[in-house]
Amino acid sequence: MDYDQVSDQERLIIRFPYVTGENTPKGLAAKKFKELIEKRSNGKIEVQVFPNSSLYSDYKEIEQLQKGNVQMIAPHTAKFSEILPEAQLLDLPYLFNNHEEVGELAEGPVGAEISRLLEKKGFKLLAVWNNGFKQLTNNQKPIQTPEDLFGLVFRIAHSEVIKEQFELAGAKSIVLPFNELYGALEAGKVQGEENTVSNINNKRLYTHQEYMTKSDHGYLGYFVITTNQFWSSLPKDTKTMLEETIDEVTEWERQTAAKMEEEQYLQLKQQEDLSIYELSPKEKTEWRNTFHSTYQWFTNKIDNKVIEEYIKTK
Ligand code: LMR
Repeated sequence: MDYDQVSDQERLIIRFPYVTGENTPKGLAAKKFKELIEKRSNGKIEVQVFPNSSLYSDYKEIEQLQKGNVQMIAPHTAKFSEILPEAQLLDLPYLFNNHEEVGELAEGPVGAEISRLLEKKGFKLLAVWNNGFKQLTNNQKPIQTPEDLFGLVFRIAHSEVIKEQFELAGAKSIVLPFNELYGALEAGKVQGEENTVSNINNKRLYTHQEYMTKSDHGYLGYFVITTNQFWSSLPKDTKTMLEETIDEVTEWERQTAAKMEEEQYLQLKQQEDLSIYELSPKEKTEWRNTFHSTYQWFTNKIDNKVIEEYIKTK
């Protein structure tokens, strides 16, 4: 598209808050999106990004999007679990083997189905961005087997699937927003948490955690989303520019996420006070088997053929 042709509309402001730090896949992609859109629209569209929960915490930002106070958000898919229980598919332990499989899901029939379901709830799904795979940290003991989780208390994002995963191992879980996580670890309100390498590194979550297990036991990614109402208010050429730019940023974001996961893992390994245990491929298979009953548990909770068919392949 020739972006000079974009409608001579009134100035448009897109407010885009997010909860992670800036040096994360989401933070860098939000910045890139802002730069490209402002350049391509010759400044007619301004994208205001608010990192680090500086505007709203993660549950609030969905509410504020619905109210029209912000126009774009990219929350962890688990944070949609109340609005869209089917989104918890992405929380199933060991659902993906690598970042490419996430792209295949997002661009395939399951992605289209999730987009359709979100649309019925008033949301327009623009893209799925990756962060990476979740790891476990805690301040009590090294965790090598799922049995080692027994009795520990972990902070989780709101998702019944994630809660079930910890319950299966006899661990407790407490739902807290991301911006309260560091404080909860510091105060000992929870003993551990699960998160990606870039979030653990960027938010210095290791500060009050002695142990980390490189388990890669689950996926953490984002629904880049707006409302149907905002989307339908935009001129056609603005929509095209936004869509083309988001597609471009999404491709870049996914590559960046995979690269950051490797690079920031090396940085975590430099932390002298953090002892890291890396599961072997064989151990990962054992962990996967331990938690695999969550797949049937989740299937029983939803009623969606497309998603059920996908789960059967796993
Ligand atoms: C978390 O709450 O742990 C993550 O979802 C934060 C994020 O947005 O990556």
